[in-house]
Amino acid sequence: MADVTLQRPQGAAEDWSIPQQWERYSPAEHAMWDHLFERQAGMLPERVVPEFMDGLQMLRMTRPGIPHFDELSERLMKATGWQVIAVPGLVPERVFFEHLANRRFVAGRFIRSPEQRDYLQEPDIFHDVFGHVPLLANPVFADYMQAYGQGGLRAHGFGSLTSLARLYWYTVEFGLIRQGDALKLYGAGIVSSYGESVFALDDSSPNRLGFDLERVMRTHYRIDDFQQTYFVIDSFEDLLRQTVETDFAPLYARLRSEPELSIDAVLPSDRVYTHGTQAYARARAIK
Ligand code: PHE
Ligand code: CO
Repeated sequence: MADVTLQRPQGAAEDWSIPQQWERYSPAEHAMWDHLFERQAGMLPERVVPEFMDGLQMLRMTRPGIPHFDELSERLMKATGWQVIAVPGLVPERVFFEHLANRRFVAGRFIRSPEQRDYLQEPDIFHDVFGHVPLLANPVFADYMQAYGQGGLRAHGFGSLTSLARLYWYTVEFGLIRQGDALKLYGAGIVSSYGESVFALDDSSPNRLGFDLERVMRTHYRIDDFQQTYFVIDSFEDLLRQTVETDFAPLYARLRSEPELSIDAVLPSDRVYTHGTQAYARARAIK
């Protein structure tokens, strides 16, 4: 997602799509994918929601090399009717929502350089494809992503994208899910990050709070470092139900008059899994 003043690059279609040009990836680029893949695949099985691992298998993403979008789309299409298409990088919000609403996931085609192995600001193909695509093979999550796209087009009309973007951030990108007594990862921003895959579950610094739609939509987030708060959903079904069955129009109206919440707030009304020490965030702020 990005601001509407972006210029469509030459060579991009009206809907901002570009060919993946899979043949152009160098051996070094495939090797970078394999390296990142192995590092995540080694630690994720016990941390990530099982539906994510199922998606990797179903989409045959366990094979070496950067995946071919056409092949992913073919398998996804059979499972849930989704496709993966390449875009040059950030696309305007309306374009992004329009694609999601039509079950097309937009992904960057470039892969990070060796210097960016552990941190990069702009999402690359590893984040977009490894992080996001496996759960698109899950029917419930697939429906949520489409509903989000439809909701985005609507929120755009209300001028409420800031609120709605927080929902995306705290679910699709940085969401945790409760399974029995355990918390598991499902957010793409976490599962594609080596450091945050550990931090989000094991570190005593961040808050872990029960998901509450309105609360989430009031909460600031950070884009430059590990999150200070994670929100925990009970199930994908529950997330889908809560968001689809709520008419966001009155919610947006209410949000306009409610104070926003800081990235580390813990409220008396929160369902608290972890009241974080925020030690990590504090240490980083001093540096
Ligand atoms: N129900 C939301 C609305 O009325 C749409 C939506 C669904 C938004 C799912 C996000 C996720 O706008
Ligand atoms: Co992402």
